[in-house]
Amino acid sequence: MTTQLPSIFLMVLVASVFATRTEAPTTLKDAFQGSFVIGAAVNAAQFTGQDARGAGIIKAQFNSVTPENALKWENIHPLPDTYAFDLPDQYVAFGEQNHMFIVGHNLVWHNQVPDWVFRDKHGKLLTRDPLLKRMRDNVRTVVRRYKGRIKSWDVVNEALNEDGTLRQSLWLKIIGEDYIAKAFQFAHEADPQAELTYNDYSIENEPKRNGAIALIKNLQAQGIPVTSVGVQSHISLTWPSIDQEEATTSAFAKLGVKVVISELDIDVLPRTAKQGTADLDTNIKLDPKLNPYADGLPDSVQQALAKRYAELFAVYLKHRDAVTRVTFWGVTDGDSWLNNWPVKGRTSYPLLFDRTGQPKAAFQAVLQTAAPH
Ligand code: G3I
Repeated sequence: MTTQLPSIFLMVLVASVFATRTEAPTTLKDAFQGSFVIGAAVNAAQFTGQDARGAGIIKAQFNSVTPENALKWENIHPLPDTYAFDLPDQYVAFGEQNHMFIVGHNLVWHNQVPDWVFRDKHGKLLTRDPLLKRMRDNVRTVVRRYKGRIKSWDVVNEALNEDGTLRQSLWLKIIGEDYIAKAFQFAHEADPQAELTYNDYSIENEPKRNGAIALIKNLQAQGIPVTSVGVQSHISLTWPSIDQEEATTSAFAKLGVKVVISELDIDVLPRTAKQGTADLDTNIKLDPKLNPYADGLPDSVQQALAKRYAELFAVYLKHRDAVTRVTFWGVTDGDSWLNNWPVKGRTSYPLLFDRTGQPKAAFQAVLQTAAPH
């Protein structure tokens, strides 16, 4: 009896160590460790800690953050001589305190740019050189402030139309096509170590994807340092197909740039005829038919969402050499922009955590994709 005790004890110890070793990870960041970084777009309530539950989920599950709105031009540089660094500083501090890969979103976009940026003091549209100067000053000031801390910048956001041609934004109209190259150059000068991304939605569709490929090739031919392409991935249960996902990832990987899934969410609500996939100009009246799950998500849809997420993550894992980060556009369903777009006031279910902060079936399905088979 006395000699048996230590050996039983040893067996139990070995068994428990073995069990610990083989236990599947329970967090997203652990599950995909070694494959890619897992991020979330965070709002001010979360990174200031006002939303303690949200902040807790972010710290536990993610190892990268993107600011959902805090770094957009209208927020960080609302008036010609006013930079509002308070919230952005808190955002970066939150990322650092939690040892996260910190993303900057975004520098040059056609949305959320105050009108003064494009006009002189008489209200007249600027010409090329003064607008380029404004762009450079803004990019320098913001990128330099967080040099070495923000590791990756979405430099140019959504410059393409659905057919792959360049969007007729004021940047394009006033500066000309090279506004994109200039933005990357200014960002690179301000922080030569930072990753620099071209970020867009719907580039899974061939015409727009071809436009993005041409754009990146053009930048590369001029020696402009574009390091990654952000495939936003505001998608639905049925679009894009897995073939489109594969083709998109492979096409960008072939260019030698990293592929970042930069704004992932999956809309389960009915689409509307006028809806693109993230065109903020769309705004449709609330009709109960467009809001079918106001009282909860049926299990069949919950399972369809889980299956869809699992299929997507299987593609990302297969292309883990090219895919370096997967960032969700929000944390819980209640936070999502899709509750207010393209119809204001709907009840949307696009993410991995429900409105009470509980993991959904989709969360388990995503974790499962990383489990050894
Ligand atoms: O903060 C103000 C608040 O003070 C004001 O009372 C209220 C009135 O409408 O507006 C609040 O600002 C809103 C902001 O979100 C914060 O909630 C803006 O109106 C609203 O336009 C803004 O929407 C954001 C949108 O980009 C435009 O910047 C969404 O949260 C954000 O999720 C969305 O993110 C974009 C990416 O940056 C680029 N890719 C597409 C993606 C989804 O549209």
